[in-house]
Amino acid sequence: MATLTPVLTDRWDAPSSWTLDAYRKAGGYTALRTALGMAPEEVLAAVRDSGLRGRGGAGFPTGMKWGFLPAPDGGPRYLVVNADESEPGTCKDIPLMMADPHLLVEGAIITSYAIGCHHAFIYLRGEVVHVYRRLLAAVEEARAAGLLGRDVLGSGFDLEITVHAGAGAYICGEETALLDSLEGRRGQPRLKPPFPAVAGLYGRPTVVNNVETIASVPSIVARGADWFRSMGTERSTGFGIFSLSGHVERPGQYEAPLGITLRELLDMAGGIRAGHELKFWTPGGSSTPLFTAEHLDVPLDYESVGAAGSMLGTRALQIFDETTCVVRAVSRWTDFYAHESCGKCTPCREGTYWMKLIYHRLEAGEGTQEDLATLLDVCDNILGRAFCALGDGATSPVTSSLQYFREEYEAHVTGGGCPFDPVASARFEYTPKDRAMAGVHA
Ligand SMILES: Cc1cc2nc3c(=O)[nH]c(=O)nc-3n(C[C@H](O)[C@H](O)[C@H](O)COP(=O)(O)O)c2cc1C
Ligand code: SF4
Repeated sequence: MATLTPVLTDRWDAPSSWTLDAYRKAGGYTALRTALGMAPEEVLAAVRDSGLRGRGGAGFPTGMKWGFLPAPDGGPRYLVVNADESEPGTCKDIPLMMADPHLLVEGAIITSYAIGCHHAFIYLRGEVVHVYRRLLAAVEEARAAGLLGRDVLGSGFDLEITVHAGAGAYICGEETALLDSLEGRRGQPRLKPPFPAVAGLYGRPTVVNNVETIASVPSIVARGADWFRSMGTERSTGFGIFSLSGHVERPGQYEAPLGITLRELLDMAGGIRAGHELKFWTPGGSSTPLFTAEHLDVPLDYESVGAAGSMLGTRALQIFDETTCVVRAVSRWTDFYAHESCGKCTPCREGTYWMKLIYHRLEAGEGTQEDLATLLDVCDNILGRAFCALGDGATSPVTSSLQYFREEYEAHVTGGGCPFDPVASARFEYTPKDRAMAGVHA
């Protein structure tokens, strides 16, 4: 029987959970004292031994990433917390920072101590002004309490944290685009290598980690690597926040061991909304290939989801029932990718735009069989050829929906539009500019 394992979400419903007082009453900042009593290498070893993998999408082992930093040379090295969270469906970091900002601050202090950083940054997506204010307040409270600034808790360790609000661009979540944006430039990915560990912020060694990754560190220090490994699977250890959204009875954040299945999560979430059945879902946000009802029992860990043809990503489980037109859903995501493509490389800049036009044509009932082949061809020209993973991600919903629901695409072609909603299809705005760009005459 699957159960929840609230650690990161444990205090979310406590009164005034975001204040230093409430955090301390719940045992907050005791892990920091423990960490400051250890050598930095011991903290790093605990995180490495826990098996914690990055929670921002790619699942890279966190301790190994920290270990890539070159030996200290007397110059600065940085921690940058990636709080951009802009992937469609992904919605775990923002509630975490809103409800429990001190957990992230404590994790950032411990991590900075472990890697020898004296100035850490939290790069937040700019639209969430309420979260920005809450983080600023938490950092101020921590500084006033001697948890930040010079000589943290009398340990001799100095640390400043800067909370930076970006201007709201999905690409600024890509770690090197984030660094360019933080330096004041237009956010576009950098060529790798060099990786941020070697030359990151201001050309200095930098660790970039996701909010949830850093927020997991205090519990590992407090309770130990073995405790963390006792949850999850052998190679996907620990717990994570699974964000269920869409056509479920009780959408929300479910913190559970990695390896839980969607069927088990749905049992806890009251199932698909009454009278309906599951049609398709994303295991890790819109950039991960779609799953269907066939995949209800796939363990949601990195290896099993990969073996079943998708990616665990950010555990953003967007659930769609049989009333949803898959072509329309993918069309909306494709609009997003075309809009957010930073334009630096041709396959993604041109490809996402062409795909957007084809989807609009299909929705307007003007698509052809050839369009379906063209969609796959465009994906083939983006995947593995784009400069960063945004381009690859844009192809995931397209290819997987064509794999599982080709007949639905064909119905759009043969039926002159969306079989689910012909009225909306007839009204669909396929603009004269779209038409001209696609070479289709009115
Ligand atoms: C287009 C794009 C957007 C991304 N957005 C985020 C994001 O909002 N938050 C995040 O932590 N990682 C995001 N990533 C992944 C980061 O590049 C990076 O892998 C991650 O911050 C590393 O942290 P982790 O090891 O703790 O997962 C994004 C990647 C791409 C390609
Ligand atoms: S893949 Fe897209 S987002 Fe990434 S560099 Fe190329 S154009 Fe920019």
